[in-house]
Amino acid sequence: MENREDLNSILEFLPVVLRSSALFWPSQVVEALKALSKGPEHSQVDSGEVLFLAISDLRNSLNLSADPLAFSTADGFSLFFDDLISRAEANKWFAEILPALADSLLRLPSMLEAHYNRADSITRIDSRDELRTSLRLLKSQEPGIVLLSQELIAALLACSFFCLFPNYSRDANHLPLINFDHLFASLYDSYNEKQENKIKCIIHYFERICSSMPVGNVSFERKVLADNHNLNYIPYPKAESWSKSVVSLCLFEVCSSGLIEDTSKEALEVDFANKYFGGGALTKGCVQEEIRFMISPELIAGMLFLPCMADNEAIEVVGAERFSKYKGYAASFRFDGDFLDKRDIDIMGRRKTRIIAIDALVNPEERQYRHKFLLREINKAFCGFSDSCKSKQYQTLLKDDDFSESLSLNFEDEIGIVTGNWGCGAFGGDPEIKTILQWLAASQALRPFLVYYAFNMEALKTLEQVTKWIMLHKWNVGDLWNMVVEYSLQRSKRETGVGFFNWLLPFLSSDDPMMLDPPYVNIGK
Ligand SMILES: *[C@@H]1O[C@H](CO)[C@@H](O)[C@H](O)[C@H]1NC(C)=O
Repeated sequence: MENREDLNSILEFLPVVLRSSALFWPSQVVEALKALSKGPEHSQVDSGEVLFLAISDLRNSLNLSADPLAFSTADGFSLFFDDLISRAEANKWFAEILPALADSLLRLPSMLEAHYNRADSITRIDSRDELRTSLRLLKSQEPGIVLLSQELIAALLACSFFCLFPNYSRDANHLPLINFDHLFASLYDSYNEKQENKIKCIIHYFERICSSMPVGNVSFERKVLADNHNLNYIPYPKAESWSKSVVSLCLFEVCSSGLIEDTSKEALEVDFANKYFGGGALTKGCVQEEIRFMISPELIAGMLFLPCMADNEAIEVVGAERFSKYKGYAASFRFDGDFLDKRDIDIMGRRKTRIIAIDALVNPEERQYRHKFLLREINKAFCGFSDSCKSKQYQTLLKDDDFSESLSLNFEDEIGIVTGNWGCGAFGGDPEIKTILQWLAASQALRPFLVYYAFNMEALKTLEQVTKWIMLHKWNVGDLWNMVVEYSLQRSKRETGVGFFNWLLPFLSSDDPMMLDPPYVNIGK
């Protein structure tokens, strides 16, 4: 195989074995999968209970039994397939879907070999120089891309369903869990409808790919900010770069209703991520990130090879297809039927859906007003929002990461940012500050617009007025950053207790905002 080094970096995390430079399933596994692929008359697997026994046998054949599954996994499979879904659905699952998944697993070794042997495994993506794109561990502090076909992703997710991935060294490599045992075990341990509906989304995904295998690609990229001048990295902005920046603020549009993933504009959709990509998707989590993973399960594949993000890193996924509709959020989350994804497809065969995973500070409280942490958050967003190929042109134009020169780069694409209350729900961040930091980062990354879904958050009720006022007064990135820094300093010293918007524009709640200027309007100019 051509890309031996790439395969070696991931081999210990895969269930297949390498023998004399070819990938195999052990022979007992092949026999068991063949029986499963022929349907319940051959395999006797026609219930959740028996399915779990088949899974245990497969795991034994792979010598995985020393690493036990979550305690209630068997009960979870049985509860879902034998009690929660109708007998008709279960019959269809065991007669059609499960055999197709077993068949896809049988083909996994040859799919992987084809993947590593691909003549064009060094691929030109977007307008970048040629890149390695094979499946490998995308380690922390190393920018890189993995490009997978949707078919290979489907086989990898089938491995997760059958709990065939070895877990031994995932923890030590800062990798999240990837098998579905906890997903099913928590269904049984603390039954709730949201967990049942998360599993329904995944089952629906398997039904869809078994009735018609999608033929596109999905790319997973680790983006890294760094001081070194290697062109694969996005230059790390320092505090002075932000305070001196004269880049104009991008358009800011507030939407009071709607959802990020329903946006029709071509934009980066922000995933309010956990530093472990996917967060609680495969356990009990069911908020913004986890819901995105359930309606577009191909995202889960990234959890296989993307270790935990550091402060200067972000993850970008292009091409994940959406399969399910849903309603509700958290405890009220429900699968709401099939979703046909009609997004355009790019020349790499990827859907033009771009998801940016950026993890905000967790429970930052007063810490979030400290300069160091403001910088952490703005640079995290900047890392996600930057376009790796744009940032190259950027670097050649700007010496010393200095943003103070006027930029007049003309980019053809008009890809903006679609976001919302990043880091402000379970993570407890200050929504006024987080909103502004995202706006600054989007502007500095030369994005043409930022669409903000406010989800009726009380603290943001004057957001539209505030952003309009700021635009009207033509503040640039440096001006607004300096105000955030000044406010945060006062807030840290307890010289002010009001929110940022009220501090910045105290008259907003009463009079016509456009008529009045606060005394410091010219600060920073
Ligand atoms: C997916 O990517 C591979 C590898 O670059 C490429 O050969 C193939 O044509 C792509 N698929 C589509 C549908 O464009």
